[in-house]
Amino acid sequence: MSSNPQGHEESVGTARSAASETSGRLRIAVLVSGGGTNLQALIDRAEKGKLDADIVCVGSDRASAYGLVRAQRAGIPTFVVSYEKYLKGPLDEPVDEALLGSVDARQRILADADAEVRRDRIRRLMAAEKEILAHLEAYGVELVCLAGFMRLLTPFFLSRFRKNDRPGVVNIHPALLPAFPGRHGYRDTYRYGCKWGGITIHFVDEGEDTGPVIAQAVYPIWDEDTCDEVQQRGLHLEHIMYAQVINWIARDRVRLVPRSDGRPRVCIEDPLYREVVGSWVEATFRPDPLVEHRRT
Ligand code: GRF
Repeated sequence: MSSNPQGHEESVGTARSAASETSGRLRIAVLVSGGGTNLQALIDRAEKGKLDADIVCVGSDRASAYGLVRAQRAGIPTFVVSYEKYLKGPLDEPVDEALLGSVDARQRILADADAEVRRDRIRRLMAAEKEILAHLEAYGVELVCLAGFMRLLTPFFLSRFRKNDRPGVVNIHPALLPAFPGRHGYRDTYRYGCKWGGITIHFVDEGEDTGPVIAQAVYPIWDEDTCDEVQQRGLHLEHIMYAQVINWIARDRVRLVPRSDGRPRVCIEDPLYREVVGSWVEATFRPDPLVEHRRT
């Protein structure tokens, strides 16, 4: 693993030039809640020397997440933060009303009309996030990669990784956003009867699945597919895409271009960008070992 690059001005997110020149590789954390096949794909890439970042820790909100086993098998430190502890029962820490008010004003993940209910929920999320942040800071994490992490993050957490207006948390979503946000991207795509499914990798902003899109790709859905087969084909694509996007960020190839409507556009500065995206989609037409059994 590389040395700790804390202290560099440009230490988070897409701002790689200063940090990578002086201290080497990007330090990433992967947060998971479940099986962790995306994490496994990143570990496999790293073991082949094809990931331009170091996975310095893996965190979860669930002690039983199989992703933790995958990390431990690869020798990556893990941690668990139990949200249940924070979401139910009394909280020890006194409320910082000013901070809570500013997080509430910025967040777009909770829509409860009752301000008291909403602020209580945000306060609890922030308490859990504080514990996660302590772990991430101890490992000198520069970029947080969500890979099936089933918790919404507040601006309190996000702002700790934002530097010079650049976000430092990315997420992979199993649908072509803004279609089918939320927890069931594959199921919703399949039930709608889509002929193409999609994958989106985006920066995380104050809303749910609303942040600037870094990369998208599509895969075909055939008439005879089951929902499970659709998911397997999509996951295969996710596994290819996530490592590439992390590499683009690590190589400082990802630019946020401000726009007059306030929503930045993400541009990838890679001369091979079109070929890469083409290869992603093409890969989804190749026989997929995971679903091939059905066809024989
Ligand atoms: C993936 O489909 C990802 O897009 C979504 O959660 C799922 C995680 O799968 N955010 P895995 O745990 O990586 O297998």
